[in-house]
Amino acid sequence: MTRQTIAILDFGSQYVQLIARRVRENQVHSMIFAPAVSPAVLKQNNVIGLILSGGPASAYAEDAPQPDPAIFDLNLPTFGICYGMQVVCRHLGGAIAPAQRHEYGRTSLHVQASDPLLAHVPREAAVWMSHGDIVADFGPDFTTLARTKNCPNAVVKHKHRSIYGVQFHPEVTHTPQGGQILRNFLHEICRAEGTWCPGGIIEEAVNNVRDQVRPGTQVICGLSGGVDSSVTAALLHRAIPGQLTCVFVDNGVLRANERDRVEAIFKGHFKMDLRVVDAAERFLSRLAGVVDPQEKRRRIGHEFIDVFREEAANIPNAHFLAQGTLYPDVIESGHSAAGTAANIKLHHNVGGLPDELGFELIEPLRDLFKDEVRIMGEVLGLPEEVVWRHPFPGPGLAVRILGEVTRERCDLLRKADQIIIEEITVAGWYRKIAQAFGVLLPIPSVGVMGDGRAYADQHVVAIRFVESSDFMTADWVHIDHGILARISSRLTNEVPGVNRVVYDVTSKPPSTIEWE
Ligand code: XMP
Repeated sequence: MTRQTIAILDFGSQYVQLIARRVRENQVHSMIFAPAVSPAVLKQNNVIGLILSGGPASAYAEDAPQPDPAIFDLNLPTFGICYGMQVVCRHLGGAIAPAQRHEYGRTSLHVQASDPLLAHVPREAAVWMSHGDIVADFGPDFTTLARTKNCPNAVVKHKHRSIYGVQFHPEVTHTPQGGQILRNFLHEICRAEGTWCPGGIIEEAVNNVRDQVRPGTQVICGLSGGVDSSVTAALLHRAIPGQLTCVFVDNGVLRANERDRVEAIFKGHFKMDLRVVDAAERFLSRLAGVVDPQEKRRRIGHEFIDVFREEAANIPNAHFLAQGTLYPDVIESGHSAAGTAANIKLHHNVGGLPDELGFELIEPLRDLFKDEVRIMGEVLGLPEEVVWRHPFPGPGLAVRILGEVTRERCDLLRKADQIIIEEITVAGWYRKIAQAFGVLLPIPSVGVMGDGRAYADQHVVAIRFVESSDFMTADWVHIDHGILARISSRLTNEVPGVNRVVYDVTSKPPSTIEWE
């Protein structure tokens, strides 16, 4: 393994993934590890520097997560952030104390000494703080490089080794010079080459797949048409074109023209072996009469497994199942000190499949973040509309039709969705919105149509536009009212059964992005 890696030890900070991405934005590969990762694992991964994240614990609490002290004997350049700084200092002779005044939010950093870590950082810079404890006494080996009003040791450095600590959060955008400080750490202190890029690792990923997939066997790839499964399929097609079969299941709760689109791209353009399963009738009959959202999800999940199982039985020598698992899914399953896994809904379209069917898994994207997968997709030649597609939930329109899912309601919402997407695309907003969709409410609404009162069979469509980087939190989009007006007018004129349109102005939390 020759790729240089920066190891991020996860002490439970809500920003740990952000740190990993900030490092990668500097063309340096990063990986997130549990706090007690062993020196052997770090060596195996060719780690050239350590970042210790912040975390919710108090560094002097009994059960505060601690690193394996032996990692400090590796003599790696080290950068501790907030709690991570306290951990570093404590392990190297310092003492922690509760801060006399807690500091939250923006404050001013005064740089007192020059150092490669602070190269190109002005003497006064805004930084973003969030801490209770501070390092009260560093022992003789550390020296202070910068302070804030309430924190005399906001940046510290070991006198003889490349070990640094910062009390603020350089990874957040509220610390405008944070990017510069991280860049300095990576390039000046760790001497990182800066050669990593997601588009450039395609060859490596292709070789890994070729090593894993034995000759004479087949790989099945469930293709939904979303970014992750599309990039997975395109990558596998490059690696093992003759050994790949893609399966697209039309479950009746997809967006308009989905099936034609997927066929045109993957069968038409890439010439892949694509099997399209027309299962709309099966799914819709399983959904008849069901109004509970979890029950809808459960039934769709089970039906999917049944359909997939039947299809797989027709593919000889299918030993492998490819999935578009991303790095955040991998991290979520238990790397964190604070157990962030508990906070996350698991959204796997094919959950349970590999176990039940006895497949070996292939997950070529499990080292990548979504934006990196998009870059890879572009390099692999996928069309822009696939690469930049908004996410679409596995249970599809079924969780956007509140109440019972029927074919008529699906058709209505599909038409509405198409209009919504057309309008934001024409207006140049599609890429500015993380997710845009309509929700069909189960309440009739009184209106006037022509000269008469309309009530029965007239429904409300709610429009939901959110901005979000990781879909864990989101805000509603302050969109131009002219666009809303056009959408409203088209929905009520062009979609029979819609006589009222409302805009959802709630953030997540407290709401979720989907309504069900
Ligand atoms: P929520 O509604 O939990 O959604 O705020 C967060 C993101 O996850 C998507 N989502 C799902 N995706 N199966 C999926 O594959 C599901 O059951 C599911 N539920 C929500 C949602 O569209 C958003 O991007």
